[in-house]
Amino acid sequence: MLVLGIESSCDETAAAVVDKNNRILSSVIASQVEVHSRYGGVVPELASRMHVEAITPVVEKAVSRAGISTGDIQGVAATRGPGLIGALLVGFCFAKAFAWGRGLPLAGVNHLEAHIHSLFLADPDLKFPFTALVVSGGHTNIYHVSADNRFELMGQTRDDAAGEAFDKVSKMLDLGYPGGPVIEQMAKTCDPGQIRFPRSLLEKDSFDFSFSGLKSAVGRYIHENPVKSRADKARVAAAFQAAVIDVLCEKLLRAARHRSCRQIGVSGGVSANQTFVATLTRRAARKNIQVIAPPLSLCGDNAAMVAARGAVMIRDGCTCGPEDDVFSRALHQQPEG
Ligand code: KG4
Ligand code: ZN
Repeated sequence: MLVLGIESSCDETAAAVVDKNNRILSSVIASQVEVHSRYGGVVPELASRMHVEAITPVVEKAVSRAGISTGDIQGVAATRGPGLIGALLVGFCFAKAFAWGRGLPLAGVNHLEAHIHSLFLADPDLKFPFTALVVSGGHTNIYHVSADNRFELMGQTRDDAAGEAFDKVSKMLDLGYPGGPVIEQMAKTCDPGQIRFPRSLLEKDSFDFSFSGLKSAVGRYIHENPVKSRADKARVAAAFQAAVIDVLCEKLLRAARHRSCRQIGVSGGVSANQTFVATLTRRAARKNIQVIAPPLSLCGDNAAMVAARGAVMIRDGCTCGPEDDVFSRALHQQPEG
């Protein structure tokens, strides 16, 4: 089965064609980051307008790069949420028209489940159950994934997402948006041990995260020790990044141990951070746990992961009808207690 995937939940308009063996025939991403970076973050109204402009050419490019014609497509998958409503509506309505005009099934994909599914594109041998982290600008969620459609939320951030913390600290250091890549580069130039920022691990048995205290600690440090040079900024960047990585690794390893998982998968924009992936891989290896991370092209928002997740939903008869709409907030609930 050939599935066309469409992603428009935030600031990337993306389309991809994936076959039934999770082979990516094409993956096209039109990023809006240059426009939003002028404002220091994503401007929802601008994002919607740019999706409208980009969606048709991006889909056309994905179909032609796959070496197929639109008549070969057998199913359509589009991100339904969570994300920016106006942005989601552009891709989801396009997908509805595209699918139903051709009598094709449409899967309304949860963006977070799509990020988790990118792990199967990275490693076809990934086996259930595994521990999964979705770590991006909007989410820091740990899941226990026990089967194709079973995503159990074990923990999430109580305030800022990890990527959001990278973006805010980058702003404080005047390093621009998005913050993750530039902080990672700066951090490479210096020893992270020169400043020690707090690690918030919350309650002993909790898999939740909190990054706002760390963000405030960085703010206080900068207030008391003005960063004048690039080297000053690098010291703060490295110490901040080390604190985030430490907490992410600690919680993930605890979650994997709690559910006896031998594999941990990380996905989402922050998993593009090679220092994070390398540190986690090293720490996990000591506990005989394997770490899977998607290639860089699949860490950030893309439509290949949406198509791949959608293919499973279509196979299992989990498709959308005309009454189904987009949603802005995550639908996964953490179990009580
Ligand atoms: O998944 P994504 O592309 O979009 C969503 O938020 O859904 O993630 C974007 C986030 C931004 O906060 C960005 O700063 C962060 O991922 N990011 C990184 C890196 N590359 C992107 N954070 C740390 N290190 C990176 N190399
Ligand atoms: Zn994302």
